[in-house]
Amino acid sequence: MNLKLYGLIVFLHIVSAVLAIGPLFIIMPIIRRLRSVERGVEKALLSVIAAIIRLVMHAGHALVVTGVILIVWGPWPWHTSWVLMTFFVLAVSAFFLATGFTRVLRDFDRLDVSKDELLNRLNKTAWLYIGLMLLILWLMVQKPMLW
Ligand code: HEM
Repeated sequence: MNLKLYGLIVFLHIVSAVLAIGPLFIIMPIIRRLRSVERGVEKALLSVIAAIIRLVMHAGHALVVTGVILIVWGPWPWHTSWVLMTFFVLAVSAFFLATGFTRVLRDFDRLDVSKDELLNRLNKTAWLYIGLMLLILWLMVQKPMLW
């Protein structure tokens, strides 16, 4: 395929990676602040968190779509070990996390869910997500031949 177009897709892939990981680091200090603020401020901070999660989720989808295009059009066969490992880690992430963020977003509006419990869940999900993304980032950059 056209080398320039392939380069453009790699660029979009990397921009998506930045947007799919970076904003999550802002969530941690906001969570810490949220534990001790009054109702009005709380609502404003929660809407910032919701916006961050939405951005990260859209960027994550763009990341997978551009990644699949790179495999279909590019030089790397899908059965290369680092590509297979990426699919495996993504499948694990989808299993554990796909509903995690969506549920937190939904529970923000429920009065019967305790704020502390929700924030703990959000904190745990965010760190797990960052860990898995960094693992994939390592696979992408190093492209290790694992077998
Ligand atoms: C379905 C999932 C994915 C597939 C199929 C995929 C596929 C690829 C391929 C084939 C390349 C090599 C491009 C080239 O150098 O010719 C690449 C590069 C890259 N990917 Fe992914 N990717 C996926 C998910 C991700 C994720 C989740 C991240 C971030 C955590 C990511 C970050 C990167 C980065 C930073 C590069 C550039 C690395 C480099 O070439 O030095 N990718 N990806």
